[in-house]
Amino acid sequence: MSRKPIIAGNWKMNLLQSDAKALFDGISSFVSNYTATQLPTVIIAPVFTSLNQVHAIPCDCGCGGNKLSIAGQNCHWEKSGAYTGEVSVEMLKDAGCSYVIIGHSERRQYFSETDEMINKKAKAILANGLIPIICCGETLEQRESGVTDTWLASQIRAALKDISSEDVAKSVIAYEPIWAIGTGKSCDAQEANRTIKMIRKTVADVAGQSAADSIRILYGGSVKPATIEEQMSMSDIDGALIGGASLKADSFNEIIEKTMKVAAV
Ligand code: PGA
Repeated sequence: MSRKPIIAGNWKMNLLQSDAKALFDGISSFVSNYTATQLPTVIIAPVFTSLNQVHAIPCDCGCGGNKLSIAGQNCHWEKSGAYTGEVSVEMLKDAGCSYVIIGHSERRQYFSETDEMINKKAKAILANGLIPIICCGETLEQRESGVTDTWLASQIRAALKDISSEDVAKSVIAYEPIWAIGTGKSCDAQEANRTIKMIRKTVADVAGQSAADSIRILYGGSVKPATIEEQMSMSDIDGALIGGASLKADSFNEIIEKTMKVAAV
């Protein structure tokens, strides 16, 4: 089963509009050298106030794909209404997004997001025809006490609750061990692959083998140009969600380039 790799840049709460535009220009001029078929699925997730500075780049070769796609970093599950400070999926779609990152550990940790909220968000995203990038991950304490697998399985089961197999198949999961995010210390590639295999098995239990074979599961946590080749050579790692190294066009483009070399895109 071949799954098209994904390289997704999570810009987090960084970059003013002019910086976002400059970074977008640096990435778009790189991806314009290729067709969407040659490239991995390339996604960038700017802050909401910079969505007007970026746009999806459709491929011109007739394949119908995108050279670059846009993601929101979060959403609310309601369509509209009295939810001060929130943004709906329809609004993100209107601003050019086709993906939405949900359940990032920073949102779970600092903004008290629960599994139930993440499940509601996933359903709203899919109902609007967008694709959720559902994050999961364990703390160092959980890893050291040996509960990583059961913890991740419970996060995945809760996030995918009552979602059809067809919708699960087109979704994306990002496995991001919390201790590896922004620390410069990536999870060992073999261990990340083992963990992702376990997540895929959980998806098979919840949504069937065919959905598990189709869903793309990314690794995230201190991914850099120096780590991507080994990560992409693993059987079950379908791409990367990248924070720090996605904030410079040079390093992000290098990650894309190396992914094209390793994976038979
Ligand atoms: P990092 O962030 O690449 O800076 O570790 C990854 C993420 O949080 O998505």
